[in-house]
Amino acid sequence: MATVELDSGVTEDYEDVRVIEGPRSGLTMAVAIHRTVDGRSLGGCRMWTYPQAADAVADAERLARSMTFKAAGAGLRLGGGKAVIALPRDGVLAGEYRQAALHDFGDLVESLEGRYVTAQDVGATLDDMVEIARWTDHVAGHPIEEGGAGDPSPYTAEGVEIAIRASLGPRALVGARVVVIGLGHVGGELARRLAAGGARLAVTDVNPARRALADELGAEWIDDSRTALLLDADLIAPCALGRLLDEETVPLLKAPIVAGAANNQLAHDGIGQLLHERGVLWAPDFVANAGGLIAVADELYGFDRDRVERKIAAIGSTLEEVYARTTTSTLTAAKELAAERVGGENA
Ligand SMILES: NC(=O)c1ccc[n+]([C@@H]2O[C@H](COP(=O)([O-])OP(=O)(O)OC[C@H]3O[C@@H](n4cnc5c(N)ncnc54)[C@H](O)[C@@H]3O)[C@@H](O)[C@H]2O)c1
Repeated sequence: MATVELDSGVTEDYEDVRVIEGPRSGLTMAVAIHRTVDGRSLGGCRMWTYPQAADAVADAERLARSMTFKAAGAGLRLGGGKAVIALPRDGVLAGEYRQAALHDFGDLVESLEGRYVTAQDVGATLDDMVEIARWTDHVAGHPIEEGGAGDPSPYTAEGVEIAIRASLGPRALVGARVVVIGLGHVGGELARRLAAGGARLAVTDVNPARRALADELGAEWIDDSRTALLLDADLIAPCALGRLLDEETVPLLKAPIVAGAANNQLAHDGIGQLLHERGVLWAPDFVANAGGLIAVADELYGFDRDRVERKIAAIGSTLEEVYARTTTSTLTAAKELAAERVGGENA
């Protein structure tokens, strides 16, 4: 397998970073292993268009690092890894071309001999996981019919609802004004759950077709995500893209709580301190959105729905522990807690 030397900026902070140019597809693909626990790391495979190959590698590294925190925070006996497949310039990867890329990627995962277990992430489908599993055993996130967890999104949404209830504390969800930004796989399911729980919803999505869900749930429709973020509400739940909390938006926030599914909500780690100073309670994303990882990782022990439910329920007590550490930002507290938990439990 051809290994391409790229300046990926790898530091000694990572156990391994492999970058190849797929021999069949010609596409750049990378696996970054931040930490292994018992020789194993897990994280999704992102299929995305990047300006340069080095950007793809940097993304894999950044995401692998946050997987270490996510797994540890959820008490899982797993390290963090992540993979990316850089899509062709036009973003189209279909038919035999896609199969060739997934074959290349399966071989790459297999060459790591189980130190990295792959799963679904942005741009990848459950069918892609089935295809990759033809070339390597080190895949999690199998269809339900095959005894797997299936789509992780409902588990993520369930965990985010628990995080929202923990963040509201004694304030009830019934009657609380909650803003959901992004009504995709997770945000749509979350909005349904919150509506059923009696929240007064305001929602937004760049895709106007999602307005149908707002109408169905009797939710207020907001035209753009910036307006939604800055609404006077009890809680904001970001469920679209990351980096929406920065030096410009945090001082303008009116809601006292931010708790949602989106990964990497902070533009950079320093924003955690800014939120703390402003008295905004932020549920660290890697704690709040761990439900999907918990479900998919459970396949490593033989998927057990009851065990998964117990672990997702524990997201609430983990957040309470984070919030009890009042002398630091919730980001720092969650990282400290994750560091204490690295190694986790077996099953
Ligand atoms: N799916 C999971 O299990 C899971 C697990 C952990 C974290 N996450 C994170 O949660 C977020 C949502 O994931 P998803 O699986 O629901 O993705 P998705 O692609 O299904 O949904 C995202 C939604 O956000 C909308 N959107 C995009 N940009 C927007 C903007 N600027 N303003 C408003 N809406 C916008 C999209 O139109 C889409 O409806 C992502 O950040 C993802 O990384 C997802």
